[in-house]
Amino acid sequence: MAIKPVLRMGDVRLWQRADPVIHFDTHQLHELLADMRDTMQALNGAGLAAPQIGVGLRVVIFGVQYSARYPDAEAVPETVLINPVITPLGDAMEEDWEGCLSVPGLRGLVPRHAHIRYQGLDEYGDEIDHTVSGFHARVVQHECDHLDGILYPMRIRDMTKFGYNEQLFPGQEMQDE
Ligand code: NI
Repeated sequence: MAIKPVLRMGDVRLWQRADPVIHFDTHQLHELLADMRDTMQALNGAGLAAPQIGVGLRVVIFGVQYSARYPDAEAVPETVLINPVITPLGDAMEEDWEGCLSVPGLRGLVPRHAHIRYQGLDEYGDEIDHTVSGFHARVVQHECDHLDGILYPMRIRDMTKFGYNEQLFPGQEMQDE
């Protein structure tokens, strides 16, 4: 277990499509998840995708107890999601502010599907199938985008709604996640 350096935007590894996990409940996979949890906790993140620590596999983790950055957001249960598939439910989109550990110090207003179903597997190969909305749905979409080489700035519609935390939200304590 170790805290790993998080790759930052500009590193070509963040633009690559990650590969599916084939073998479950392996020492290697458990070790990767331990590293991801340690790294996410150390940086106080809401989620982390394996490519962000340089591992090109379709593995994400997320979970939010309470975020100073999203004081109105509901808690999101700690989840390991592997080989995910997201299905939007309906056409509704919502815009809200996002940050990313790979884009530290910045925030952007990002449209996401308001309601989604997500399916995948956990580290033991057991099936996950959840239907979620709002902030939970946003976190899942953000993390799964990393598996396809997409960072949130690529989804911003109005680039005047992209900038540094101190300029967008003066006087507020902001974390990266
Ligand atoms: Ni991110």
